[in-house]
Amino acid sequence: MEIHCLLSLTVALLSCLGPSETGPTPRVSFSLGSPGRLVTRFSSPEVSNTTTLLLSEDGGVLYVGARDAVLALDVSNEDAITPRSKLDWSPSDKDLEQCSMKGKKMSDCPNFIRVLQFLNSSHIYACGTFAFSPRCTYINSETLTMSLKPDEGRGRCPYDPYQRNTAIIVDGELYTGTVADYRGNRPVISRHLSEGRRVDLKLDDTLGWLEDPTFISSSFIPDEEKIYFFFSEVGREYDFIDKFVVSRVSQICMSDVGGQRTLQRRWTTFAKAQLLCQADDELPYNVIQDIDTLPPAEGAPADDTLFYGIFTSQWSVNSGRSAVCSFRLSDIKSVFSGNYKVLNRDTLQWSTRVQEKVANPGECGLHNASDNALRFVKENFLADESVRPVGRSLTMVSAEHRYSHLAVQRVQAVNHRDYTVLFLLTESGFLHKAVLLQSGAHIIEEVQVFEQPQPVKSLKLSVPQGVIYVGSSEGVVRVPTANCSVYWTCPQCVLARDPFCGWDPNSRACVEVHNTKTTLVQDVDRGSVEEACSSVSLTHRARFNKLSAASCPAGELVSVSLNEVVRLQCPPSSRLSQQQWERPNSRLSPDLYLHLQDGSLSFVATPTTLGHYLCLSTENGFQQTMAIYHVKQRSSSVAPPPPSTQAGVRPGPRLHPSEGPRRTETGPGGTQPTQSSRDAQAPTRQQDRDSPLWTEESGHRGTAFSEGPLLSSRGPCYLKELVVVSVLLVLCLSLLLTVLLYVFRERCRSRTAPQAGTPPRDRRTSDEQEALRGHGGSKRNGKASHSGQAGGLVCNGALTGSNGHLPNTPI
Ligand SMILES: *[C@@H]1O[C@H](CO)[C@@H](O)[C@H](O)[C@H]1NC(C)=O
Ligand SMILES: *[C@@H]1O[C@H](CO)[C@@H](O)[C@H](O)[C@H]1NC(C)=O
Ligand SMILES: *[C@@H]1O[C@H](CO)[C@@H](O)[C@H](O)[C@H]1NC(C)=O
Ligand SMILES: *[C@@H]1O[C@H](CO)[C@@H](O)[C@H](O)[C@H]1NC(C)=O
Repeated sequence: MEIHCLLSLTVALLSCLGPSETGPTPRVSFSLGSPGRLVTRFSSPEVSNTTTLLLSEDGGVLYVGARDAVLALDVSNEDAITPRSKLDWSPSDKDLEQCSMKGKKMSDCPNFIRVLQFLNSSHIYACGTFAFSPRCTYINSETLTMSLKPDEGRGRCPYDPYQRNTAIIVDGELYTGTVADYRGNRPVISRHLSEGRRVDLKLDDTLGWLEDPTFISSSFIPDEEKIYFFFSEVGREYDFIDKFVVSRVSQICMSDVGGQRTLQRRWTTFAKAQLLCQADDELPYNVIQDIDTLPPAEGAPADDTLFYGIFTSQWSVNSGRSAVCSFRLSDIKSVFSGNYKVLNRDTLQWSTRVQEKVANPGECGLHNASDNALRFVKENFLADESVRPVGRSLTMVSAEHRYSHLAVQRVQAVNHRDYTVLFLLTESGFLHKAVLLQSGAHIIEEVQVFEQPQPVKSLKLSVPQGVIYVGSSEGVVRVPTANCSVYWTCPQCVLARDPFCGWDPNSRACVEVHNTKTTLVQDVDRGSVEEACSSVSLTHRARFNKLSAASCPAGELVSVSLNEVVRLQCPPSSRLSQQQWERPNSRLSPDLYLHLQDGSLSFVATPTTLGHYLCLSTENGFQQTMAIYHVKQRSSSVAPPPPSTQAGVRPGPRLHPSEGPRRTETGPGGTQPTQSSRDAQAPTRQQDRDSPLWTEESGHRGTAFSEGPLLSSRGPCYLKELVVVSVLLVLCLSLLLTVLLYVFRERCRSRTAPQAGTPPRDRRTSDEQEALRGHGGSKRNGKASHSGQAGGLVCNGALTGSNGHLPNTPI
């Protein structure tokens, strides 16, 4: 067996030297302070290390275990988190002195609260490291006062604040996994506060039931009357590899009261098994980082309970990568009811020699069993089989993001099907929201929750409140699980594939599914806009064709000198979209045009390259127009050439990529400034991380776009443009053109007329429009001369009417 394992590992090593998959990319990204995904924050100079979180049953109060304090925060208000009360609980000066005399750093000697659990309806049980001498206490949850004298915390809370632990109170009894000594080499899983005549229990430590574990989590499964512990430890059964880390699930029965002679005051129901997060022929992701329980859907058996875990790898080939695996309770149970590995008591070596079963390890109710049976149980605690993930494959892998914490939720979508949504925290301070689909994981969005990467100690999801709390060293952050109103159009709403969000054709808004009675438009599985939104609107593509067929000049005017290098920006509609440039009635020859990485287009202004350019963005088979430019030669009589070449194309396209505004560097408190310039719409690759896309910005953008004509329906500029044209063309041609333009103008007018009669498709309130107008106005101020020129465009009316061409404006 060991040989076999060695072989398969070697094979795995070889076959895995170049893992290629990078994993899903977040579709949209919200940077810190982005108005679409506001995070509420609590931090105070008086409290730090706010890392242990406990939410009251009604979700109105968040209890926080911090350094030398327990806090009660009022979280019932949507706009702010306000402190309600605070309990100071710090070691005395004498305790601190002793702590530092023992050679500990003074900064590690305070009382770090590491256990915070409801004991009953009126009291909380809390434990802290208390200057490397752990203590526990009872706290009245209403008044936040200590009600009894502190207990000794040994075996309930770690000594060292950097050691991970887990604790859960069920029926007033405390189950913990932690180290129980000062040096940190005596791990235990134990029961305290046992009710009635039951005795407290702990692990038998003569045979090494645990091997230098790192405790991750514990979960109570009511139907089983069992507690499951999750941790990683050294895999002694793989003694041919030095310190091979394995992830484990272990179980104990709540009915356990220990043996009568053998295993007195020790668990008789302890068993452990390996959790294997591994795809075929690949190295396992062997180190568990976090795990969350997804209870079965209503009406489904408890066996369908799933555990979603984040795993990383011990090996450098997989360093920086993390994987998500899910495990089914029924699989865990069947591994525990199978065979067990046999420990040779003298050599402490494992074998899988088949042994006559005297008892079933892991079985509940062994307290009256014979000594012989209990001895067998004591020696057989490691299940032979490993627990394999659901579907025998990884749920998700990411090469780019190292996830540290997760929470999982089941969400019912419009089609009444359940979807699993994962909330994953990256080490760099982003929260990813992913929905699990047949085709794999789709990351709907990422929200930045911390400015600086920092070790997060806990993540708490409140499904009824629809929020997530993140506890870190520097404060508590709250993020709503969704904000559907960041999607302004039916296509945007459908492309998001967010099971929380659906498009309401009546109110023309993307709304939360569970708040709505009306039938919503949604397609989580495929994100097919054509089907979902077909009843709602024309496709953009169809409209674009109509536009180009009429060859109606429209779009942002770009004045250039001949032989100047022009760069046209194109904002991607999402990170999953692909941009493509088009010119009406002509192909973009690769000899003349350079398609840059960020989606922008670069070329040298020549008579043949003057004219209209459209940037189209395609996502999931759906195409929309993101930008329309009209590149024309600068007329020296209208505007004297600006001193620098770059200024010549100020209205949007930029000559030098390095001169792009650094959006992350502006704005108070490091928050993102709102959109103020067209250039910033298209972040370069390097900026991507720092200046992610905001859908609502694109909304502003669309408005600013359609505003051009509003601001510029003045006649004279039209004439100027004509002058330029006539200089370039022979007289008769220009005469012909004038006639043509006149015809077009008439046509455009007649086209806008009926649209004016239909109700506006824009669903923004007048307030919002007012705000946007102000926004766009200030934008225009910076380049008044250009807006004047833009006014010369012949088909302004058509552009206003064709608002639906523009990204992110409701259609
Ligand atoms: C949701 O998005 C809208 C539109 O961007 C924004 O006005 C609103 O403040 C956001 N709400 C939250 C709670 O983030
Ligand atoms: C909860 O437990 C505490 C401590 O044991 C006890 O003093 C208190 O009376 C209990 N409260 C209720 C409602 O049972
Ligand atoms: C175990 O034995 C004790 C006394 O020996 C008895 O009272 C108890 O009912 C037995 N329990 C079970 C589950 O058999
Ligand atoms: C407490 O927080 C500080 C930063 O505020 C951090 O440096 C330190 O590591 C934290 N201590 C523990 C035990 O988490």
